[in-house]
Parts: sequence; structure tokens; C-alpha cells
Amino acid sequence: MKILVTGGAGFIGSAVVRQFIDETPHSVVNVDKLTYSGNLESLKSISGDPRYFFEHVDICDALELARVFETRQPDCVMHLAAESHVDRSISGPAEFIQTNIVGTYALLEASRSYYGSLPEERKSRFRFHHISTDEVYGTLGKEGLFTEETPYSPNSPYSASKASSDHLVRAWHHTYGLPVLTTNCSNNYGPYHFPEKLIPLMILNATNRKPLPVYGNGENIRDWLYVEDHARALRLVLEKGKIGENYNIGGRNEKTNLEVVHTICTILDELLPEGAPHASLISFVKDRPGHDFRYAIDASKIAKELGWMPRETFESGIRKTVEWYLENEAWVNHVTSGEYRNWIETHYEKGSA
Ligand code: NAD
Ligand code: DAU
Repeated sequence: MKILVTGGAGFIGSAVVRQFIDETPHSVVNVDKLTYSGNLESLKSISGDPRYFFEHVDICDALELARVFETRQPDCVMHLAAESHVDRSISGPAEFIQTNIVGTYALLEASRSYYGSLPEERKSRFRFHHISTDEVYGTLGKEGLFTEETPYSPNSPYSASKASSDHLVRAWHHTYGLPVLTTNCSNNYGPYHFPEKLIPLMILNATNRKPLPVYGNGENIRDWLYVEDHARALRLVLEKGKIGENYNIGGRNEKTNLEVVHTICTILDELLPEGAPHASLISFVKDRPGHDFRYAIDASKIAKELGWMPRETFESGIRKTVEWYLENEAWVNHVTSGEYRNWIETHYEKGSA
């Protein structure tokens, strides 16, 4: 199959693209605008593969999307391109409305027109897989889990924009018959994560002896999933998921933010004893406005119906992640210096590769 992946230069998208090229015979067309969070260096290990193609395209650009579908002739779409950081959505929501809502609309329309032009046999294989978040369900108290039946109740501009995109995807299925799949996943972590998010930020700040800013009292809870486990779940849903269904994905790894930061500090104390105790760098700062208290996923549907289980525990995954950041100095330095932004000029012609 040829899979069109949007946002393939991002954190999760790059894991999906690397897995497809490394572990399957499929080819991938990566459609990415390369915003601040898009980094082609995360795809360095597979970018020379003849089954990998790159399109430097904004998903809001309908004409460019039509050209990509026409020339690349994909069998499926996996839609990951998005503005993804909650704090940025609070300080500047406009890009979130544009990419996450208008961009998803443009991609749905391009997919619908392309799907309509396919012969029956290719139509039967076509899927539009929309990758979304557990944040659409809002916040939990101390008890309970998000199921696929939990009503939507998004609280931040980010989660509201993702909820909107989920509804558009659902409508394009019910109204136009587009064969869609939607997945809602909990917090991911792992290699190649842009260091604005909690885990990579804490690892890099701690190694550089900078303060570790914990919002509020650090008691907010997130349910962590190793990114490679998420990528495997997405591949499984694309292959075996039932058209029109939603699947929750999560690792049953609930931790308070403070627990996460202490775990990172303990691993760093062992690997970099000269900086110990890294926990002395923890600094409580003003809380995020509207900060959701707790997310926790019931992933029993994908386990029962498709047989997915995560391979990593939080303990194994977080150790791998800390080690990866210490061992991949070039990737880290290029991100922190901004040099990764030059990768496109030095490695690709504009438009395609
Ligand atoms: P990311 O910010 O690391 O990557 C986003 C990618 O999308 C980047 O490569 C960026 O260049 C690209 N992009 C942004 N705007 C674009 C546009 N207009 N046109 C084309 N490309 C554009 O995000 P991520 O953490 O990898 O998240 C990927 C998807 O998974 C998102 O849809 C997000 O909502 C969802 N998700 C993320 C998590 C998580 O914990 N990170 C959890 C659940 C769901
Ligand atoms: O639940 C899935 C979502 O997880 C995804 O949809 C989002 O794209 C992804 O960014 C993530 O959202 P969060 O807001 O949960 O992730 P973030 O890493 O920004 O924050 C995790 C928790 O840590 C949250 O409770 C806020 C807190 N935090 C975050 C930062 C950046 C801090 O305490 N200090 C920080 O400096």
C-alpha cells in the first residue's frame, strides 16, 4: 500500500513513518508544512529509502492537496498534522483553528473527491484514519476512565479544535460515506519529542541544570504511552479497524506530573551522578489556565477487538527515553539551536523529494 501520512515530520508522525518503512513493505508519502514542530532530521534513518516520499505542503492548501492526491495516488490517509501544544493554544489559538479545523476540512474534501474517483476495488481498501486525542473528553475527577462513549467536553482551545475535527470526520462518514476511522490517544512520550512538552523539557532542563517548572501543585494526572506503542496501535487500526468506529488508545500508566518529574530526576541521578540530586531543580510555577486535572483511558475496546497491547511499561519507556536524549546530542543540539529548521534547504527541493 501507499499511505499518505500528514504531519509525518512531527513526534508521533515520524514514529509512524519510520515503522512503516522499517517494518512493512508499504510506501509512505509524508505531507508536512514543517512548522516549528516538524523536523525532517527525525526521519534521517529512512529518508533515503525509495519507498519514502516527502511533500512540503500545508494541509489548508486545497490546490496543493489535490495535486498530491492526483500525482501520488495513495491507498489510505493517516491524518496526524496538527498544532499540538496546549500552552501555545492558550497564548495563540488562531493557528489551532486554522490547521486543526480548516486543515482537516480541506483534507477531508480532497480525500472525498479523490475517493469518488477511485475504481470500486481501490475504494474498498481506502481508509481515512484521523488521529485525535483523549483531551476531547475533557477532564476526569479522581475516579473513572474515558471510554469511546464518554461525551465530548473539551476545555482548551487545542482540545476544542481537535473535537471539532473529530466531528467533521464523523460527518464526512455519515453524510458522504467516506470510510473513516478515528483514534483518541492519551499522552505520548519517547524519542524525537519536541522539548516544549513536559517530559523532554524536564530531561533537557535537568541535564542543563535549569529549573524544572511544575505547574500548580504537580498533582495533575496524565496517562502515559510510549510513542512506538501508539504507532503500532495506529497501524493496527488502519489495517483491521471497523469503518466508522472510534478506538481509545492508552497505556494504563497514570502518574501525577510530580511523579513523572521525580522519576526522570532519579534516572538522571544514576546516569549523571555529578548533577545529583536533580530534583533540587524542581520549581513550582503558576498553573496553566483551565488546567485539566486528570486523563485516563479505558483501552479495552482496541485490546478486545483488535488484540493491541502496549509493549513498554512506563518504567521501561521512560528509561529508554532519558537514555535516548543523552545519546542523541546532535538531534537535541539542532533543535535547541534552531538549526533543524535549515534541513529542508539543505536536503530537499521545494515541493517534493
Ligand atoms: P507535533 O506537533 O510533534 O507534530 C505535528 C506535525 O504536523 C509537525 O510535523 C508539523 O510540521 C505538522 N503540521 C502542523 N501544521 C501543519 C499544516 N497546516 N500542514 C501540514 N503539516 C502541518 O504533534 P504530535 O505530538 O506528533 O501529534 C500528532 C497528532 O497526534 C496530532 O494530531 C495530535 O493532536 C495527536 N495526538 C498527540 C498526542 C501527544 O501526546 N503528543 C496524544 C494524542 C493525540
Ligand atoms: O492527552 C493527550 C495530549 O497530551 C495531546 O493531545 C497533546 O498534543 C499533548 O501535548 C499532551 O497534552 P498535555 O497538555 O497533557 O501535555 P504537556 O506535555 O504540555 O503537559 C503534561 C502535563 O504537565 C500537564 O498537566 C501540564 C504539565 N506541565 C507541562 C509543562 C510543559 C508542567 O507542569 N510543566 C511544564 O513545563
